[in-house]
Order: sequence, then structure tokens, then C-alpha cells
Amino acid sequence: MDTAVLSTGTDQHVGSESVLVSPSAVDPLWWRSAVIYQIYIRSFADGNGDGTGDLAGVRSQLGYLRDLGVDAIWFTPWYASPLADGGYDVEDYLTIHPSFGELAEAEALIREALALGIRTIIDVVPNHISDQHPWFKAALAAEPGSPERERFWFRPGRGTNGDEMPNHWVSNFSGDTWTRTTGADGTPGEWYLHLFTPEQPDLNWNHPDVRRMHEDVLRFWFDRGVAGVRIDSAALLVKDPALPEVPDVVAPGEHPNTDRDELHDIYRGWRAVADSYDGTRILVGEIWLPDVERFAKYLRADEMHTAFNFDFMSRPWRAGELRESIDSMLAAHAPVGAPSTWVLSNHDVTRPVTRYGRDDTSFAFATKRFHTPTDRALGTRRARAAALLTAALPGSLYVYQGDELGLPEAEELPLDLLQDPMYFRSDGIDPGRDGCRVPMPWSGDKPPYGFTPSGAASAPWLPQPDDWADLTVEAQVRDSGSMLSLYRTALGIRRSHPALGDGPFTWLDSEEDERNSGVLAFSRGLGFVSITNFSDAPVTLPDYTRLLLSSVPLENGLLPPDSTAWLRTQH
Ligand code: NOJ
Repeated sequence: MDTAVLSTGTDQHVGSESVLVSPSAVDPLWWRSAVIYQIYIRSFADGNGDGTGDLAGVRSQLGYLRDLGVDAIWFTPWYASPLADGGYDVEDYLTIHPSFGELAEAEALIREALALGIRTIIDVVPNHISDQHPWFKAALAAEPGSPERERFWFRPGRGTNGDEMPNHWVSNFSGDTWTRTTGADGTPGEWYLHLFTPEQPDLNWNHPDVRRMHEDVLRFWFDRGVAGVRIDSAALLVKDPALPEVPDVVAPGEHPNTDRDELHDIYRGWRAVADSYDGTRILVGEIWLPDVERFAKYLRADEMHTAFNFDFMSRPWRAGELRESIDSMLAAHAPVGAPSTWVLSNHDVTRPVTRYGRDDTSFAFATKRFHTPTDRALGTRRARAAALLTAALPGSLYVYQGDELGLPEAEELPLDLLQDPMYFRSDGIDPGRDGCRVPMPWSGDKPPYGFTPSGAASAPWLPQPDDWADLTVEAQVRDSGSMLSLYRTALGIRRSHPALGDGPFTWLDSEEDERNSGVLAFSRGLGFVSITNFSDAPVTLPDYTRLLLSSVPLENGLLPPDSTAWLRTQH
């Protein structure tokens, strides 16, 4: 993206100051190739020294993001929230969480980032809301059958005293999906539905207030210059109002709480709101669906722009598996004309450096356990190869904060400091997601590694490991062989190379050849080839005119195991 072009944009008045909002003169297709950096704000940089990351911290590090070479930032929820689920329990969409800052700072940040050529994407959480939101408090205070309760899913219990749950849906965080209310006189009352924690009651999307409120939220933030929204749990919003049990075999579109056909109408409404703004304001879905054709339906021209490609992210580090995923995702996207996204991790997922060093290199929430052995050197080597592989694939790229530093999962956090409901709700069997949410190491040789300003009164909200001195930004900037240097170089090449980002893609060898050799090699338009070696022996490179970048040095001109090379080629 060209900063000079941005600065010729139209002035739009926002809040108390004028903001340059991406004008239509700027590439309307920016999102098809963008590199989007995910900021988990609690853990990025702490500006005020209270141990929690904040907007001031992000503003102070915008230069870091510019130098890294990203086109946009996606912020996980920054709204007022009791943080029962790290902010995915929103109390007020129009207010910034006081630990993070104020609305005026968010406006300033959006403006400052855009001046550096970086767009802002925010998170919206439409499936549920905080139990501290005024709507839910009013619902609890109201009678069964009242209009206040209609915005949620309240139901009487089953059984003689109503003490059995209305159904047996299983929570995404393990355990039950229903919590029983207690009346003012202390007697047990109705139950309410929550697909996640009890602090996150599900909204009833058949209710016009729910639809209206969310479209107003979109307008509120688009008015402030945000370039897009990431839609949390996007396939869960609509429920079968009869709330039946989940059948053993579910026909497409007939699951009582997932991927129901009525969802598409909601997103068409959202797309109309987004399209009423100048520049291209995008909708990005968090959609976990095994059926890639159903997944792609959300990406039709009048619905979302893109969605997270979790299929690729979840696959093991094996050529055949990854090739199959790439093929099936590209094939599913082609008919709807949407670009794929490429994602190695996020704030919910085991860090790639750790995951790729294990016996089982795939990702699944259900299999996460404490004390799983990992070979961090191997995992880091593969994570470097994966970084180049994904950055060369066609479409947009997501980088979760800290992956560009090669941070491992922090697996030795004291149990009494864990915060994630996934840990608590699994009775301590699932280690939860805190290990990928540990505050960033910026500088110095011991915690807090520059995460908090010097002399800060408070320690980081989650403790950082003692052995991260080599992983700080300061240490890695100086080291041309570091993960950070690899990311910077790769994103620089990606930005300037006309074949990268969105565009044509061709495998170099047949599927059978690649499966047998354990190599994935593909060209991107004319003159660019990416090759990854998954096998345990060095492989020969295809003919090339120049080595653009490799994740480890070549050995006698061969590509070593678990590495990727980018080549300039004649054809
Ligand atoms: C997906 C988010 O990424 C995750 O962090 C959150 O816990 C759930 N949705 C519920 O909002």
C-alpha cells in the first residue's frame, strides 16, 4: 500500500478530530492481498505501567508494525468488558475498556496507523454478550415471558421441578450450555442458553433489537474509520427456535445451532452497511466448518469478504495433508470469487513453534494437554518454513502477534494465574489458551522485557518466561538470522513482488510426485517459485535464476529438511 496515496485522501470528520479515511481512490481490492497483524491488546505493549497492554502501548509501537510490513491490524475486542473470556464478553460496544484507554485514543490510533499505511480491523462478537450488559441485567430482573427476556434464550427447565436443562447441547468450552436463574425471592427460575461461559449469554437473532444494535455498532466504528470487522463465532448466531437436541447425523444447514441457512441474510445486511461506506470496509468471518462448500457460501459476493482458513491451520506438518488442504480451500473459494486467507495461529491456538515440534503437529482444541513433549528447535525450524510457505500462497495473510518473534507456547505458567475459562471448564484437563497470550518481549534480558515502561508499578498480567531474552524485538532486530528478520524480509518481498498476494497459483509437480517426495513446490505467476521440503533429506531446487530468500541456509545448493526457499525463475 502506498502511504503517499493515502495522504491524498478525502478528509472525513470523525469524533473531535479529522481522520483520513481510506478513500475510494485507494486500491479497493486491498483486502485480497493484505497482511493482517493480529493484536491481542492485553499482551502487546503496556503504555501506562499497570501490567496490561493498552492503546497507548500500541500507538508507541506503530513504527514496529510499519517496519514489519503489515497492511492492517486486527484488534481482538477492546470494549468495556468484565473479561470473563478475555473481552469476548462485551459489556458496551461503544466504550473502550478502561484498562486499554478511551474512545478518543482509539480514534487517534486509527488515524495514526492509517497515516503509516496501516488499516484497522476490529472484532465484533454477535453470538453473545456479557452478562453485565444492560440488556441481560434487565432480562434477569424481568419476568419469564417478558419482552426483556426475548432478546436471549430463556426457557423453563424440564423434569418435575424444572431442574433439568432444556436440552443437552455441549458448550464450545466443554460442559453445559444452560444456567438456571434465581428469582428475587431466591427460588430457582428459568434457564438461559450460553454456548460459551455463563457470563456470555447467547443473543436471540430473531429479535429485531439484536439485529438493529449490531448494525448500529458497525456504523459507529465505520464512522470512526475502521476498515473492517472480524466476526466472532460467525456461524453460531442463529438457533432453531425449538432448541431440539443435536441429532447424531446432521443434514447440511440443519444443525440446531451451527451454520443455519438464515445466517446468510444477516450477513447480507451487514455487507450492505459496509458497502455504504467509501474505501472497502471488509467483513472477515471466524467460521470453523468442516464442510468447505458450506464455508464458502459465507463468501458469496454480497456476504463476507473473507473468512479464516482454519482447515490449513489445523493440518499436520506433512506435504500431502497441506497440499490437500490448499487444493480444497482454493477450489472452494474459486466459485465465489473470494481469496483464501492463510493463518498459522491466533489467540486461541497453540503457538506454531511449539505445535510443529510435537509428535502430533496438527491442531485440535480437544487434544490439548499439559506436559506434551516438544522439540522447540525443530518446531522453530518448521515455523520458519511455514511462514514462507503461507506468505507465498494466494490471498491474504494473518500474523498473530509474537509469531514473528517465534514465541513458543508458555507452558509453565503457574496454575493459580491462569485465566482462561477453557482451563477451568475442563476441570484443569485442557491447559487453556493463556500460553499463547503471554505479553510480548520487547527489550532487555529479563521480564518484563520492556512490555511495561521502566519503573512500572505492576508486573505483566501473565508472567513471561525467564528464557525469552533471545526472543525480544531488540535482540532479533540485531540478528539477521532471527525469526523477526525472516518475517521482515519475507513481507518486504511479498509487498514488492507483483506475483505475490492475490493471483495465479500453479503446482510444479503432480500430487503423486509431491506426496512421494515430501516436497511442495508451486509458482506464482511468472518468475516466482516457492518450494518447501517436508522430507528428512535435502532436495534439489528447480531451475532458478536467483535465491530470493530461504528459511535456513541452503546446504551445498540443496534445500534442507523442514525449510522453504523462494526463487526467482525464468518462466
Ligand atoms: C472465538 C474467539 O476467538 C475466542 O477467543 C472466544 O473465546 C470465542 N470465540 C467466544 O467468543
